[in-house]
Amino acid sequence: MDNLSVEHLIGIEDLTARDIEIIFQTADRFKEVINRPIKKVPSLRDTTIANVFFENSTRTKLSFELAEKRLSADVVNFSASSSSVTKGETLVDTVNNILSMKVDMVVMRHPNPGAAKFLAERVNAKVINAGDGTHEHPTQALLDSYSIREKLGEVKGKKVVIVGDILHSRVALSNIYALQKQGAEVMVCGPTTLIPKFIHELGVKVEHNLRKALEWCDVANMLRIQLERQDIQYFPSLREYTMLYGLDKKLLNSLSKEIVVMHPGPINRGVEITSDVADSKQSIILNQVENGVAIRMAVIYLLASKIER
Ligand code: CP
Repeated sequence: MDNLSVEHLIGIEDLTARDIEIIFQTADRFKEVINRPIKKVPSLRDTTIANVFFENSTRTKLSFELAEKRLSADVVNFSASSSSVTKGETLVDTVNNILSMKVDMVVMRHPNPGAAKFLAERVNAKVINAGDGTHEHPTQALLDSYSIREKLGEVKGKKVVIVGDILHSRVALSNIYALQKQGAEVMVCGPTTLIPKFIHELGVKVEHNLRKALEWCDVANMLRIQLERQDIQYFPSLREYTMLYGLDKKLLNSLSKEIVVMHPGPINRGVEITSDVADSKQSIILNQVENGVAIRMAVIYLLASKIER
């Protein structure tokens, strides 16, 4: 099989449509593996991977760790809050110390946009971006598209609306790149203050009315309001946001067609989405989480095959 055109996974912006297809075909094989009674393959027995997290995570951290262990890699975990970073150590010094323990690949989440690229240019290891500030979250976008492909047969030609805090969302930017590269139409929906001014340059539609956006789409990806990244108040109150942009069962059931509902997590139940929508048969939220392991196995496997030993 062909391999990826990139040496690291920094962002979807760097990938070709063919790269995405190669990742999906590899993930198909790993999805079959993780549904077997013995969910493990020996492929990466000679590879050591460090998961370096400078920001909190539940899904991404667990999913990468599980993917690495399913591939039989040796895994070390690093959390900034309990490390010498708190004593002033720099990012490059921290990672070079980890690499001198013979680590082949670094999976990194960092609050600063560009941190993964910065690291990839300075260390002798493969780098996978697990989210860099408001920039990109490439494996999330890959698992989102993979889940649409699984549910609707293909991504090409599908209409996908991304709803909510687009301004602060790395998931939105990575999804826009991934969906467009696969031939989907993309719309963003949210209050004017949470839609970036440059959004038209990305070739997406913009809609401020949630009902109109939902009537247009095949798939709605409901994003979390990222209060931790908001230094000013972008809307009067969470209650008002929910009234205008929250998806509840009444609105979902009133649409003229059955749409697919997604959410990257973590969910704020009752804010961007109600519990009965999150748990409905139209929701593929848990399928997204399951597919995350297969997608991350595929990315790690494909990049590991490029390591010079
Ligand atoms: N979707 C996502 O990135 O979730 P975590 O922040 O829990 O990793």
